Amino acid sequence: AGPAALALVLALAGCGMVPGSVTPVDEAEFTNELAIPPLAPSRVVDGTRVFELTAQEGTTEFRPGVQTETWGFNGSYLGPTLRAERGERVAVEFTNELGERTSVHWHGMHLPAAMDGGPHQEVEPGATWRPTWEIDQPAASLWYHPHPHGVTEEHVYRGLAGMFLLDDDASRAAALPQEYGVDDVPVIVQDKVFDDDGQLELEDNGSEPGTLGGTVLANGTVGAYHEVTTERVRLRLLNGSTARTYQLGFQDRDMELVASDGGLLDAPVTLEQVRLAPGERAEVVVEMEPGETTRLHSFEADLGGVVVPFAMGGNDAFDVLELRAADELTPSPEPAWEPSVHAAQDALHEDSAAVTRTFDLDDRQINGRRMDMGRIDEVVSEGDTEIWEVRSIVPMPHSFHVHDVQFRILSVDGDAPPPELAGPKDTVYLEPNRTYRLLMRFDDYTDPDVPYMFHCHMLLHEDEGMMGQFVVVGPGQEAGTPPDGHGGG
Ligand code: C2O
Ligand code: CU
Repeated sequence: AGPAALALVLALAGCGMVPGSVTPVDEAEFTNELAIPPLAPSRVVDGTRVFELTAQEGTTEFRPGVQTETWGFNGSYLGPTLRAERGERVAVEFTNELGERTSVHWHGMHLPAAMDGGPHQEVEPGATWRPTWEIDQPAASLWYHPHPHGVTEEHVYRGLAGMFLLDDDASRAAALPQEYGVDDVPVIVQDKVFDDDGQLELEDNGSEPGTLGGTVLANGTVGAYHEVTTERVRLRLLNGSTARTYQLGFQDRDMELVASDGGLLDAPVTLEQVRLAPGERAEVVVEMEPGETTRLHSFEADLGGVVVPFAMGGNDAFDVLELRAADELTPSPEPAWEPSVHAAQDALHEDSAAVTRTFDLDDRQINGRRMDMGRIDEVVSEGDTEIWEVRSIVPMPHSFHVHDVQFRILSVDGDAPPPELAGPKDTVYLEPNRTYRLLMRFDDYTDPDVPYMFHCHMLLHEDEGMMGQFVVVGPGQEAGTPPDGHGGG
């Protein structure tokens, strides 16, 4: 454990948190077939691909015979997978049928701030909001979820989340499993606490980053298995939990990491495990032999020598998803791909960085401040490449997310990032007291009045104020005052 862990225990004790009061994750039976979120239907109107999403209340049978009250998009839990192509214009008709305000944010998407779905674009009950934008970024596994001011944790925990997949020339031509729901499978990993009546409990159960549940779900399925019919299967892993960090891999084989948050890596990387903090994604390709069974596992979190106490979700290990290979498997190619035709345009160059900013995260603040809807924290010039130096200055980890951009991690404490952190990212797990230098470019959209967010994606932290706002301005523009208003209405 060592001094860092001890310091963390002391820090937690100092804020009244009791490490160790969290229930360990149950060992599941893996007898339920993995639910695959349906692909959202769309219609093309005047060249725009239009999706419909409705946030609604419902009940979900996570366990046979037990109806749990949940929220979902177009259903009772989670939402359909949206899918679009680079270069396409999309629109989403989002209707809020909940009894309270919410919003829908496109996590990882490059788009105008007014379309971003953050706390400045909340939608009143009964209202419809129709954001539209052009997809202008590499193929990637993005996602969507609510982002209402102060209650994001609750809205996501109740079930509002879905995947948003982007395709491009490089991803379509890639030698990668591509049959959605068959050998190209979204896996939304979440954890829940159920009370004695089988209802979702969201409360501080003594864990510092927020609720850590003893039941793990994959796409809303408890103890899920997936039948594999091909020699390789691609898992699009999303940590859709509000608090827990997972260390995912297999106990009996390596996997090939092919993409991070913002899209394909330069080349596949062979890995035993990949750590995913809330909000992060990883695409991995797993090889199977006919007739065998293996399980996606969450290992004890490896923090490079720092053992995070149980109350942070660090010391728990459990299985997440069973893969069952059929007796005969269809051949799959070895993972490989050529760079996109846009690669040069998308590339970020450190020597062109105009500005370096520093972000120090303590337990609930960034640079000593808590979120204020009426305050712009950073003003960025359109077209600029910037370096953001981000660090948790307390002995606890955070999950740092920036809206609108995909960044590259230049270094972690001066060292080159490990291969799994070398690809495009929009969210990064911050090990305590380490400096992460992030390189990003703010292209295309200016609006001095409507801010984008940066925040911790441990959603209790976000709700309690660990968030700030930036605007992107054009030449001669000055940051305005963000309206405290709401969208739809
Ligand atoms: Cu996934 Cu600001 O959020
Ligand atoms: Cu945090």
